[in-house]
Amino acid sequence: MLLGTAVPTTPVPTDAADLTLRRGAARVLLDNWRGDSTVPSHGLYPHQWSWDSAFIAIGLRHLSARRAQRELETLTAAQWGDGRIPHIVFNPAVPLDAYFPSPDFWRSSRAGAQAGAPAAIETSGIVQPPVHALAAWLTHTADPATSRARGFLERLRPRLAAWHDYLTGPRDLGGAGLAAVLHPWEPGMDNSPAWDGPLARVEPVPTGTYRRADLDHGHSAERPTDLDYGRYVRLATDYRDAGYQDTGPHAFAVEDPCFNALLIASEHALAHITEATGGDPAPHEERAARLTGTLVSRLWSAEDGLFLCRDLVSDRLIAERSAAGLVPLVVPGLPAHITDALVDTARGDSFRLGDLPLVPSYDLRGPSFDPSRYWRGPAWFNINWLVERGLRGHGRPADADRLRTAMLRAAGASGFAEYVDPRTGEARGTRSFGWTAALTLDLLAARRTDPQDAAPLPAPRGAAPGTRERNPA
Ligand code: SER
Repeated sequence: MLLGTAVPTTPVPTDAADLTLRRGAARVLLDNWRGDSTVPSHGLYPHQWSWDSAFIAIGLRHLSARRAQRELETLTAAQWGDGRIPHIVFNPAVPLDAYFPSPDFWRSSRAGAQAGAPAAIETSGIVQPPVHALAAWLTHTADPATSRARGFLERLRPRLAAWHDYLTGPRDLGGAGLAAVLHPWEPGMDNSPAWDGPLARVEPVPTGTYRRADLDHGHSAERPTDLDYGRYVRLATDYRDAGYQDTGPHAFAVEDPCFNALLIASEHALAHITEATGGDPAPHEERAARLTGTLVSRLWSAEDGLFLCRDLVSDRLIAERSAAGLVPLVVPGLPAHITDALVDTARGDSFRLGDLPLVPSYDLRGPSFDPSRYWRGPAWFNINWLVERGLRGHGRPADADRLRTAMLRAAGASGFAEYVDPRTGEARGTRSFGWTAALTLDLLAARRTDPQDAAPLPAPRGAAPGTRERNPA
């Protein structure tokens, strides 16, 4: 049974350009390594970030499977008693003013005590998208012998199961089965125009009551605004002061299609992990199937040909078309009419797949489109990687090949930028960014080892590679 492509740890590049690109990407990951984990970037993000680490492990496994294992072990060792994996694990050696909000803002070991925050490690109190089981499985497949010898999956499995139980339990705030996010930092797309409506209800904290460290490293025109930050700080403060309890009420509560699609992909991966460690994978497969049905019934918009976010305060879909709505392409078992519509939407005027170099984070024709400002238009490599994997998994190799080639070109030419102008590939944000480098390595390895790449992500157990592309409607 193959699940996720097994990739040798040292793939041989095919030509000189690939070799240069691979060396550059490897250099970023070596430079950003801190002994137990990898920082997304030296200046802007000097600690360990949750979904960054998962994407980084997916690329790092090609350089050192042991190091990729370590990355995920370090992150999940900071898990809280209630199952949440925090979005930042702070490095105590880094000065407090190097990043805001710092550990003395989150106060996890005190404010999170009731939710089971660890006493010995300072973390944030919110979460990020659950890419971790997917990353753990892909890391395992890179070097199963070392993984087995070190008991990697045995250690990770209960942590990942508790993480998914947290998301489908206390975080099912809508009561329909999907995981909700409580802060714009949780879905990872901080200033997506999709949050403008829900955030309008949030009273920002006064400016001058905190200092933004991000503007020491990033251009203000490429970062969220001060008004956004005032609202981010208000939401985080209120959540902290409520002891990080999820019962609410919450001014901001949203079901996000990217977050939930990654939960489903990870639930399939957890089924594989469970089987590989002698457990019963059936409950995970059943949950993945249930979540898939609920994702469609709650968030699919046939009119838009796209998944949308649901605002749980108004209980309405949010009429903003962002790339989060394309990410469910990574979900196996979607009805064929939905994957067909998603591919059409990706190729259409809003995202222009195959026409522009990369897929933008937000509708090119949307009223809030900005090609430079963080998640309001720029193209991000993790989202493009997910779309590429999804296209390939659903039997669109030509689209996937074109996107892969464009991503590799943009990654190298931009100095492994955090994000790029989707129309030109010009660098935006910080450079030498961890997941950009890591996913470059992964794309190079996939091209080298399996040109057909029939099972780019873990498929449902028992499914033959490639069968997920044509599920009955
Ligand atoms: N993305 C946020 C930041 O810019 C927090 O995770 O700091």
